[in-house]
Amino acid sequence: MSTRSTISKKSAASDPSQLPDSTKKRPKMTVPAFTARKGTEPLVCLTAYTAHVARIVDEVSDLILVGDSLGMVIHGMPNTLGVTMEHMIMHGQAVMRGADKALVVVDMPFGSFEESPEVAFRNAARIIKETGCTAIKLEGGKEMAPTISHLTKRGIPVMAHVGLMPQQMNTAGGFKAVREEEQYDLVIADAQAVEAAGAFSVVVEGVAEDLADRITSSVSIPTIGIGASAACDGQILVFEDMIGLFPRVPTFVKRYGNMEDMIRDAVQRYAQEVRDRAFPTKDHTYKAKTD
Ligand code: KIV
Repeated sequence: MSTRSTISKKSAASDPSQLPDSTKKRPKMTVPAFTARKGTEPLVCLTAYTAHVARIVDEVSDLILVGDSLGMVIHGMPNTLGVTMEHMIMHGQAVMRGADKALVVVDMPFGSFEESPEVAFRNAARIIKETGCTAIKLEGGKEMAPTISHLTKRGIPVMAHVGLMPQQMNTAGGFKAVREEEQYDLVIADAQAVEAAGAFSVVVEGVAEDLADRITSSVSIPTIGIGASAACDGQILVFEDMIGLFPRVPTFVKRYGNMEDMIRDAVQRYAQEVRDRAFPTKDHTYKAKTD
């Protein structure tokens, strides 16, 4: 059941003059429209995990990813391997309540798609039915091509994910960027395989710039980079990373805000005012009805 449209879309949405020209009167992004942007205007993608962040991110994004990075940045897990279908569905539902124009994609968590194309279909269909999102994302290249083909032929749009694949961290020995030339052909072959299988776009994570460039020119679907240079057709960042709310700052992250300091300042001032009995004041207090 879709849970769309149960929160009001306020802020800049209620004052369109606040929005940049490019975001005014945007039509809702569809899968074919997203793919058609290959090689044209860069695609803006961000993660979101909650309704009100999605509402803000939606104002500027072509695509919102409910990434399994939520395990780390929201739930404090050491990696993404402990993320479940229930996590993805709950956060997917929340994001769908806030998103309006952006294409919403929900990640398939580790263990939900690798076993067989049939298991992948069952879980992907559940995500789409229970969240109302448009597409799913799954990590994997050549080895996942049969699964991607099975899903896309049955009505499930798939965003693929190659290069550094966080769900493979145990076999890779950590989060390892792809920077050695002898690894390049494998990653290019992965990108070509997921395109041939029907993926509408591919996330390229943690690769050297010359490899990102070669991948982007060797596929006709948009490449969305994270730690993969400006050579990609679009960019994605994890929301908590870019607003400064996650302590680890990898090289590829640019912080556009410092929410940790803002939150610390707010909670410290609140605590002090409670201790000083400076909050609440009369302004924050109900008066008895006198009528
Ligand atoms: O889980 C996630 O947020 C992702 C992005 C890093 C692309 O897969």
